[in-house]
Amino acid sequence: MENLEDLKNEIIAKINTCTELKQLDDVRVAVLGKKGKITEMMKGLGALPQEEKIAFGKGLNILKNDIEAALEKQKKILEEKALNEKLKNETIDVTLPVRPETQGRIHPVSKIYEEVAAIFGQMGFDIAEGPDIEDQFHNFNALNMPVNHPARQMQDTFYLNNDPTKQFDMETAYVIRTHTSGVQIRTMEKQQPPIRIIAPGRTYRSDYDATHTPMFHQLEGLVIDKNITLAHLKGCLYDFMKAFFELDELPVRYRPSYFPFTEPSAEMDIGCLKTKTELKIGAGTDWMEVLGCGMVHPNVLRAGGIDPDEYQGFAFGLGIDRLAMLKYGIPDLRTFFESDVRWLKHYGFTPLDFSSMTGGLSNNGGLAR
Ligand code: PHE
Repeated sequence: MENLEDLKNEIIAKINTCTELKQLDDVRVAVLGKKGKITEMMKGLGALPQEEKIAFGKGLNILKNDIEAALEKQKKILEEKALNEKLKNETIDVTLPVRPETQGRIHPVSKIYEEVAAIFGQMGFDIAEGPDIEDQFHNFNALNMPVNHPARQMQDTFYLNNDPTKQFDMETAYVIRTHTSGVQIRTMEKQQPPIRIIAPGRTYRSDYDATHTPMFHQLEGLVIDKNITLAHLKGCLYDFMKAFFELDELPVRYRPSYFPFTEPSAEMDIGCLKTKTELKIGAGTDWMEVLGCGMVHPNVLRAGGIDPDEYQGFAFGLGIDRLAMLKYGIPDLRTFFESDVRWLKHYGFTPLDFSSMTGGLSNNGGLAR
């Protein structure tokens, strides 16, 4: 009987050290199989005298039951372990991007145009367009900047030689537009008020450093109707800035300024915090200029064929690239136009995250970073 106790301990120890189901089954066969140790011992019972047979048989049965229980217990443990390993290997990360992975990226300038169009679109603005190569009437004269007007020197204009067979004539030469304000005139020529348009587009000035490139992007805005006041301008642009920077509160101020085509004119600043390493919009005591604006000058309305005694309006112009730099923390404007795929991968946006007022403007979670 004591031997049986030793045998039990020995077998159970073996069972408990099994790490694989196959190994456990080998132990089972070696003990309880047809030729297993306990099976053989049971077969040998018959040769024993009656009394011993009863006692030893009982002992063997208890041993067999204990071994079976130990086998069952270890089997459960090993099966659970196997299942957990399988589950671990088969996990799916549902947050991974769709496959095949989208390679293309939307340029920050395109993204800002989408965002701006979504905001002004909801306010009821249409989108207007004008040509990059512009005559001086639309780029200057009609905007209250006649020939020799000192304001023409404010913008470093690129002039084009219209007719290479003739001598260059500064007065009739086309320009590549220095601003999108010419679209104001083109819109008035086509349409009587009420007018409510934004005009996105490329603009050109001879300038080059970290915040200026010879080609850059502007957005023009024009609203003309009866009884339009400075209050409309202020409210409209304030609402726009808050929507654009996705902030409920944003300090803004309007500083008096000068543009020949608006009177009065102003520049709009937004509140921010400038440190050596970062710029935080909407907090702090610093100011950042974001756009030029004003009430459309009567001479401009007249040049566009609109009666200034009946109608008035406001206009504004903002730099798209600059807004992109501010909103997405891009330090150098020149990198926008280097066509570096690595840059685009870092600062660009996935095409599936389109901007909308209801679905989210910038989809910050979807930034391709
Ligand atoms: N055209 C001006 C510029 O390029 C901006 C502007 C547009 C200002 C409309 C007032 C009204 O600087």
